[in-house]
Amino acid sequence: MKVSIIGSGKVGIATALYLIEKKVADVILIDVIKNWAEGIAMDIVQASPIRRYDVSICGYSEVSKIQDSDVVVVTAGKPRLPGMSREDLLRDNIKIMKQVAKDVAKYAPNTILITVSNPLDILAYVALKVTGFALKKVIGMAGILDSSRFRYFIASELGVSPKNVTALVLGGHGDLMVPLPRYSTVHGIPITELLPKSTIDRLVERTRKAGGEIVSYLKTGSAYWSPGSSVAEMVECIVRDRRRIVPCSAYLRGEYGVEGLFAGVPIKIGRNGVEEIIELTLTTEEKQALHLSAGKVKDVIEQLETENLI
Ligand code: 2OP
Repeated sequence: MKVSIIGSGKVGIATALYLIEKKVADVILIDVIKNWAEGIAMDIVQASPIRRYDVSICGYSEVSKIQDSDVVVVTAGKPRLPGMSREDLLRDNIKIMKQVAKDVAKYAPNTILITVSNPLDILAYVALKVTGFALKKVIGMAGILDSSRFRYFIASELGVSPKNVTALVLGGHGDLMVPLPRYSTVHGIPITELLPKSTIDRLVERTRKAGGEIVSYLKTGSAYWSPGSSVAEMVECIVRDRRRIVPCSAYLRGEYGVEGLFAGVPIKIGRNGVEEIIELTLTTEEKQALHLSAGKVKDVIEQLETENLI
């Protein structure tokens, strides 16, 4: 299996490292900066005798090297700086995504495409439109990351192993995302049985702002280890046809009452990409929160369409 990562910044590198360490597939790293990806790949491969991986990793600046990839991950784009929302990246990153999506359609027309660049749900939509790929073949990475953050905060609050905790965060990858306490458990026990509402509300709020919290510490960019591990998990599910149920940004055609855009929902992810979208029963309040979050994604798409940008 061949996995290509377009954009060898911090998220791209973290993704590559997790994939290589888990021996998921041979990895091609691409970056526009001449020789950058070559250097990164060379550095990673020189650790192989110590870390004991024998899959290959190569770096190139020519995007044509993604030829016939089974999975392509797009991390290319600018990251957030303190005080910025993910939407503030739109004008710069949409240009990059349009070009990259064209390249993907040209060189790897049969690939599963995972988009990571922000604003996530908007750029996944742009990638789908530009490639013309089947809906199930374009997936945005965010739900696994947001859920992982929520899981960690729950584990840490309760003083239990994070391995014990499952959680679900739906909606757009922004401050209006929708963590679902009713569907978040510690070994099957809903957290609503274990924590008071005020504590859960605090953890929900921290989850929504967790990306921004890291940006405020890093100052020069955004998170990369947790996003990289989330992408690697998606890639592994596809390459090994794991068919795990995880939250990801998928194109919705009426599921959850959302039509014609990407938003985070539980999907079954496997060799064909989105194998199935799982529709959960939500309370009125949860549904409203999801519609508010998806509505924000819709507003931006409509604006872009008005400006003929997509
Ligand atoms: C985050 O939430 C970068 O959007 C990414 O950290």
